[in-house]
Amino acid sequence: MALDLKTLLAAMTLEEKIGQLTMAAGSYAVTGPIIGGDVEAAIRAGRVGSLLNLWGATEIAAIQKIAMEESRLGIPLIVGFDVLHGHRTIFPIPLAEACAFDPALWKATARAAAGEAAADGVSMVFAPMLDIARDPRWGRIAEGAGEDPFVTCEFAKAKIAGFQGEDLADPAAVAAVAKHFCAYGAAEGGRDYASADVSERALHEIYMPPFAAAIEAGCAAIMPAFMDLAGVPMTAHQPLLRGWLREAQRFEGVIVSDYNALAELMQHGVAADLTAAAVLALRAGVDIDMMSSAYADGLPQALARGLVAEEEIDACVHRVLKLKQRLGLFDGVLRGARRQGGDSAEPALARDAARRSIVLLTNHGALPLSPTLRKIALIGPLAEAAGEMDGPWGAAGDRNDAVSILNGLKAALPAAEIFYAAGVAIKEGDAASIAEAMPLCAEAELIILCLGESAEMSGEAASRAELGLPGRQRELAEAALDLGQKLGRPVVALLSSGRPLTLPWLFERADAVVATWFLGAEAGHAIADVLTARFNPVGRLALSWPRAVGQIPIYYARRPTGRPFAAEDHYTTKYIDCAVEPQFPFGHGLSYSRFSLEKFAAGRQSFRSGDTLHFSVEVHNHGPFDGEATVFLFAHDLVASVARPVLELKRFGKIALPAGESGALCFALAASELAFRGADFQPCFEPGAFAFSVGFDADPSRHRKLTLEALER
Ligand code: BGC
Repeated sequence: MALDLKTLLAAMTLEEKIGQLTMAAGSYAVTGPIIGGDVEAAIRAGRVGSLLNLWGATEIAAIQKIAMEESRLGIPLIVGFDVLHGHRTIFPIPLAEACAFDPALWKATARAAAGEAAADGVSMVFAPMLDIARDPRWGRIAEGAGEDPFVTCEFAKAKIAGFQGEDLADPAAVAAVAKHFCAYGAAEGGRDYASADVSERALHEIYMPPFAAAIEAGCAAIMPAFMDLAGVPMTAHQPLLRGWLREAQRFEGVIVSDYNALAELMQHGVAADLTAAAVLALRAGVDIDMMSSAYADGLPQALARGLVAEEEIDACVHRVLKLKQRLGLFDGVLRGARRQGGDSAEPALARDAARRSIVLLTNHGALPLSPTLRKIALIGPLAEAAGEMDGPWGAAGDRNDAVSILNGLKAALPAAEIFYAAGVAIKEGDAASIAEAMPLCAEAELIILCLGESAEMSGEAASRAELGLPGRQRELAEAALDLGQKLGRPVVALLSSGRPLTLPWLFERADAVVATWFLGAEAGHAIADVLTARFNPVGRLALSWPRAVGQIPIYYARRPTGRPFAAEDHYTTKYIDCAVEPQFPFGHGLSYSRFSLEKFAAGRQSFRSGDTLHFSVEVHNHGPFDGEATVFLFAHDLVASVARPVLELKRFGKIALPAGESGALCFALAASELAFRGADFQPCFEPGAFAFSVGFDADPSRHRKLTLEALER
């Protein structure tokens, strides 16, 4: 018989109700299944309803047993874990995977991660991360899908479908938590946890759409961000949590706070004590208090003082119980069942995801590697760094299991000798160790530099003010470049990082540069696949790659200015000491094939708001390899009551073409997607001319264009 939640709720004491709103961890360790005695006692007493940061079938079964057999009401626990890019099998960081522009892949890796996490007893994942970020100083840019709202919306839908499957009660499904609502990526100065102060327009047009897409995709939960938005901490943001999420978007799922965020309302200076913090969060609509004791310690007093009503608490408890019901937890779907094929069964998917995420930034002919190469120097601190390849959220993966670049290349090129030297450590080194690496370069026919950041330099609390190579890596690279130039040896640079790095000197001098991000378990094999052309690169940048930190924030969808850049005119928008354009535009990424676009056409010349527009374009692969092209469709509302961005991404599409062949890509676009927020921030659709363009990236000078007329409704 289906459990009646109302009856259950009626049987609960206040302490048990607040228990359902309390998420605890057995320890502060984020990597292992450790549960302390106190937490067990609290679960037994009904004072904890969910746990975080633990995994392991046996451990979770044991803790669920305590909840279900030793607590008065026997309510099972939700167990949440940060499964950002894989659980046991680690996939590329989200920023890298976004560069694949492949929703089917995004869904597949989420599905695989959900299966592995669920097999480990996990029932909730704190993902997907949907924070648009246009500031690579912010370390958490690594966790999201880049700068663009349309891409992040597609990413949200795919990830949620992958994590949650068709039915949350499936033992391989987990509840997704879309985070961090809202505008967390707009942190001032790129400093993690710092204030964001963005316009209402930016909220509506940039930061909120991914969350609307997540809700539409049935996302089970949402996590408010740590920071304050124009003075109001998101954990206490009534207009956005209650007003927008709950009322306007009709979100009926659970709102789970970020770690200790309720207590931090005191640090923000909006609550004098835990009781006040609890009142603010409850009023705003936060259901679960993660890791602060604000609800446990503050709500009883708040209730006694009449600051909150018991019905408000009941509404939160009901939502939490409802999620437990949807997850099948009351029906014994406790997850933690061993899967066939062992714990970590996704190497083929991990390799495919990784090679699709790699972006070939520059190539003056050094790549692909010639099959006749016999001596290669592999130099740099990221070459034999298996432990770094997983990136910032290693989840339950075994860090040392990842395939290093050295091992990947050795496996791919058994006939070549590979001379390896780290040269320097990631963050330190000396002139002597740099000098020691040079003879290896001299002896080789080609030099591959493995440069970049360590995994912990991106992700949470990993903001950087400078975006160059850390330590003495630049010296190492320049020594190798000088030698390569002197001896006529090509130099290829591979960049492992969680963000774009500002290295104009390297892009200028190296014969090829490849963004290899943090690619996860199969990194080395995937990189070797691309370097050898066993896989023709398909990755395209999901963000604009800056030349200099001073260009930040940087993104393609800027609004026009009254003084557009003109080199010959002083009073135009520019820097006097740096180019205004990014190093590489959004969408940039080379292939070993050369593609072109022809015959861009639309099905009609004019349209009304209810119409669907159809576009087609011919794509040619001029060879010499079979390959896959990614095409972007942009729109520009030429004259509107509010200045609209010069380009707005509306669709992207991919087409696989054998060398020498052509094919057509078609896009359907509902005209209603051209609506925008008017001066009063209400959605509006205005007649007039719209420019549409297709291109391989966001550089309009290379686009195919046409103009259509929107008619009065
Ligand atoms: C992070 C969240 C994460 C949570 C739980 C916080 O510090 O901001 O993204 O889900 O910890 O580990």
